[in-house]
Amino acid sequence: MISPARELLNFIDTSPSPWHAVASAEARLLAQGFTRLAEDERWQLEAGGRYYTVRGGASLIAFVQGSQPISQAGFRMVGAHTDSPGLRLKPKAALTGNGLARLAVEVYGGPILATFTDRDLSLAGRVILRGAAGQKTRLIRFERSLLRLPNLAIHMNREVNEQGLKLNKQTELPLILGMLGEGLDAQANLHKLLADAAQAEAADLLSFEMAVYDVQKGCLWGANEEFIADSQLDNLASCHAALSALIAMEQPAACCVAAFFDHEEVGSESATGAGGSFITDVLNRICFHAKLDEEDRRCAMARSFFISADMAHAYQPNFPGAYEPEHKVMINGGPVIKSNVNQRYTTNAETAARFMGLCEKAGVPYQEYAHRTDLGCGSTIGPMLAAQLGVAGVDVGSPLWAMHSARESAGVLDHGYMIAALVAAFDS
Ligand code: CO
Repeated sequence: MISPARELLNFIDTSPSPWHAVASAEARLLAQGFTRLAEDERWQLEAGGRYYTVRGGASLIAFVQGSQPISQAGFRMVGAHTDSPGLRLKPKAALTGNGLARLAVEVYGGPILATFTDRDLSLAGRVILRGAAGQKTRLIRFERSLLRLPNLAIHMNREVNEQGLKLNKQTELPLILGMLGEGLDAQANLHKLLADAAQAEAADLLSFEMAVYDVQKGCLWGANEEFIADSQLDNLASCHAALSALIAMEQPAACCVAAFFDHEEVGSESATGAGGSFITDVLNRICFHAKLDEEDRRCAMARSFFISADMAHAYQPNFPGAYEPEHKVMINGGPVIKSNVNQRYTTNAETAARFMGLCEKAGVPYQEYAHRTDLGCGSTIGPMLAAQLGVAGVDVGSPLWAMHSARESAGVLDHGYMIAALVAAFDS
C-alpha cells in the first residue's frame, strides 16, 4: 500500500497550479463516486449522496450527505486553500533585448523570492480559446524545464551571504525563456508556445493565467526517509488531507463538507475566495434541498463545526530566536493547533479542546503553536469563515519548514496523522 505522504507527493506533482489542483481533486472525487453539480443549474440532492461543485476553476467544495437531519447534526467542515505564493505571467509577458526573450512576472502573494533563483522552472495554468461554440478553457502545463532566474554571481554581489539576496520585483524577476532570433515577435512566440501546449491555433488564444512552477518532483528525504520535500505543501497538503478524509466517509451522521479556496495568499477577497459567497451559497443550497426553513438553518449552523487546515511553522533548530520557546512545533509531532488572541487564527479554548478530543479519538498526537509576540503573526481563512458563517472553528495544520519557499518540507508521519484527525472530525 502506498503511504499517505507518497500519495500527497503524487497529488502535488499532478497539481502545478491551483486550476490543476482542482482538476486533480475532481478526478479523485469522480473515481470515488462523487457527482459534479453545476452552479448554474438546479441541484437534485439525494439522501446519502456524494457531490462537489467548482467555482472559477480553482475553488471546489465537496460534500457527503449525513444520515441525521442537518438541523440536528449541523455541518462538519474542513477548509483549505488551493493557491500558493509564487510568480505569475503578466498578460503581455514577452520582453526582448540583448538577444534574449524574457517573461515579465507579477508576484503572487508572499513567496521567498530568492528560492526561485537557479531552479528548473516551468509554466502551468489555463488558456482561454476562441471556439465555434463559445470560449473554451483548457489547462496546460509544460512538463519540461522552460524558464530560469539565474542568480547574480557572487563576484558581482559580494555581500550576498551577509545581506541576503535582494531582488527588485520589477527589474530583476523577469525569467529567461530563450534566445531570440532577429526579427522575431516575442509576444507572438509566447502565444504560439501556449497555444501549441493547448493543441490549438495561436490565433484562437484569447487570454491566459499562468503560474510559474518548479518541475522538480516531490521526494522523501532524511536518514530514514522521515521527511518530504515539495513545492506547494502550503497548502496542497491540507487539501489532500481533507480530500482523503472526506472520501473515507461512508455514512457520516452529519453532512461533511471539504472546501478548497483560491486566493488565500492574496487575502481571499474574490468571488472564488474564502471571503466570497461560495461556501454560504453551497451550504444554503444544501439546506434548501433538505427543506430547512430559516430557523432550522440557523440551528444547523449553531450545531456545526469547522476546521481551517493550513500549514504550521515547525521548529528549525538553526534559528532558535525565531520561535516562542514553549511552543516549539516538531516535525512528525502531529497536527498543530494554532491560536492567536488577536484572532489571526479562529481557535479558542473550547474549539482547541474539541480538536484535542478528536486527536485523542484518532490516536494521534497533537501540538500547540503561538507566534513570537514581537513578530507579526500570519493568518488563514479561519477567522474570515468564522465571521461569515457564525460557526465555531479551529485553526490547525501540519508542521512545515520554509513556508512559502519554492521548496518546502514537512514530516512523513504528520500527513497520516492529519488525515486521521480530519476523519475523526467528519465522524464526530
Ligand atoms: Co497557507
